[in-house]
Amino acid sequence: MKYLAVLGRQPKISLAELECLFSDVNQLSLNLATFSSDNTPDIDRLGGSLKIAEKLEIPVLEHLKNLPEGKITLGISDYSKNATKKTAWSEALKLKKILKRFGRSVRVLENKEATLSTAISHHNQLAEKKNHVEIIKYDKEYYLVLGVQNITAYSKRDQARPARDAKVGMLPPKLAQILINFCGPLKKNSIILDPFCGTGVVLQEALLMGFTPYGTDLSDRMVEYSKKNLKWLAEEKNLTNEETYANMEICIGDAIDFEWQKIDAVACETYLGPPMSTIPPDIKLKSAKQECKPIILGFLKNLSTQIKKGTPVAIAVPAWLKENGEYSRLNILDEIENLGYNVLKLKNSSEKDLLYHREGQIVARELIILRKN
Ligand SMILES: C[S@@+](CC[C@H](N)C(=O)[O-])C[C@H]1O[C@@H](n2cnc3c(N)ncnc32)[C@H](O)[C@@H]1O
Repeated sequence: MKYLAVLGRQPKISLAELECLFSDVNQLSLNLATFSSDNTPDIDRLGGSLKIAEKLEIPVLEHLKNLPEGKITLGISDYSKNATKKTAWSEALKLKKILKRFGRSVRVLENKEATLSTAISHHNQLAEKKNHVEIIKYDKEYYLVLGVQNITAYSKRDQARPARDAKVGMLPPKLAQILINFCGPLKKNSIILDPFCGTGVVLQEALLMGFTPYGTDLSDRMVEYSKKNLKWLAEEKNLTNEETYANMEICIGDAIDFEWQKIDAVACETYLGPPMSTIPPDIKLKSAKQECKPIILGFLKNLSTQIKKGTPVAIAVPAWLKENGEYSRLNILDEIENLGYNVLKLKNSSEKDLLYHREGQIVARELIILRKN
């Protein structure tokens, strides 16, 4: 089946995530892509997509007319090339008018722009509640939204967990999902290792996605934080009786020489160096790089002897903001390849595109997708 994704803030990263999981991924416009999947994609497992939709094979009016009895809440997002707030609004009003003739009562959601924001779609429970519908228009094609990113659930997972550390645990849950998805489609219960587990964001997302979390960290305090957060999550989500939770392991270990047990995939944010609030002068940048590089390469060297050919490894490593607004990277891809890994080649995104950051952020994360060779 063909599906449509509304891509996130960094579309090339969203595309890379889709490409690692699905086939025929094609970018239609800046923030839209189509892809094929045998199963209906679950928006709650995708960190990089804002909405997932399916193509309407019948005329849009026909679809709306035949919705179950009761009032319809309708939102239109117009992604066509020359779309404006006005084109989306008049499309919605036109549909409302015709539906009225068929005896259907419709509440149209007012657009602030040509497309409805994730927040508006989510808070109006579009695609969630009976008869709450969002239609995506793209030129002459119409798509029915099947799922919208659950911003409330993300911020709860991020902010309500009991053990937080401002210096360490800032990895957004969405990015943790993206890293896990970069490992490709994995079997249920697969063991996901995070050897720099910190407060456990990757482990949390792995558990929620039906995988077995396996975390190690140099710091005993972080190990305790991860355990506490995972216990909290499992209780919140009723996962305490799951095999994945029972088999979960979190312990102290130096990623440079630790001997892990079974590993199916690796997803992690490595050590990112000292926290920084201003652009580092050259000397500080050099010392941060000198501190991070041996830890990252040492870890990959150690890991390489312990995993099978084909094992997926997705890592986030630091990159630092420069005065000219660009980011200074570690430039370690060649060295990583020499350690027995291939950097995954993608159709829609290049390695340069995979830099996760917010405007002005000092320490960004370069995302590297590897397969053991
Ligand atoms: C950027 S934090 C990762 C944060 C994590 N993603 C989270 O959810 O909180 C990096 C972590 O690497 C750990 N670390 C640093 N050097 C390490 C090493 N050689 N081996 C294992 N862990 C290490 C630190 O203790 C820290 O928890």
